Amino acid sequence: MRQDRLRRAREQAARGSRLVGKKVTLRLGSRIGYVDLVHEMAEDLARWARFPKPAALNIALAVREAFINAIKHGNRMDSSKSVEVQFERRVDRFRVSVRDEGNGFDWRRTADPREEENLFRPGGRGIFFMKHFVDHVAFLNRKGRGTEVVLEKRIQPNTRPLRDGQAIKRRKG
Ligand SMILES: Nc1ncnc2c1ncn2[C@@H]1O[C@H](COP(=O)(O)OP(=O)(O)OP(=O)(O)O)[C@@H](O)[C@H]1O
Ligand SMILES: [Mg+2]
Repeated sequence: MRQDRLRRAREQAARGSRLVGKKVTLRLGSRIGYVDLVHEMAEDLARWARFPKPAALNIALAVREAFINAIKHGNRMDSSKSVEVQFERRVDRFRVSVRDEGNGFDWRRTADPREEENLFRPGGRGIFFMKHFVDHVAFLNRKGRGTEVVLEKRIQPNTRPLRDGQAIKRRKG
């Protein structure tokens, strides 16, 4: 009896650890039409990594902002240029990187949308939102090969990803 329980626990742990470190990579042309696809994929993969619904939505919103920036500011809407989005579940965090083929930028010089002179500006909030939606945001200038935005959210210890084949409940609407 006890042996059975131990065996089951071991098998379950093995299934969980097989999924750790797995990467999912998307390579897409720079089209705004792909934004919803990337958003849904981010949300589903975050749910698979066992984030509760609100946290998964926050991750998806951060990825959405980074993806739009990659298309708009990085690749300047040139649909022949690609954006690569990579999702990875590490042991302690969920990591998403968004790479474009643009000229890079100095993110330290971007304006703070909370400053009075910026309050009524229509844009300039994407990076600010990203920082609130995930635990860590980093920008890497890849020397002539565009920008990479890395978004990370911590995973609580002892949460296992969903088992293979286990369904993810989809959002309504
Ligand atoms: N991938 C990128 N490549 C080049 N420049 C970028 C990139 N991402 C952001 N930027 C620069 O940083 C600025 C701030 O980005 P942020 O997402 O905060 O605001 P926005 O895109 O201008 O407006 P919003 O996201 O609110 O619609 C952008 O206006 C752009 O100049
Ligand atoms: Mg933006």
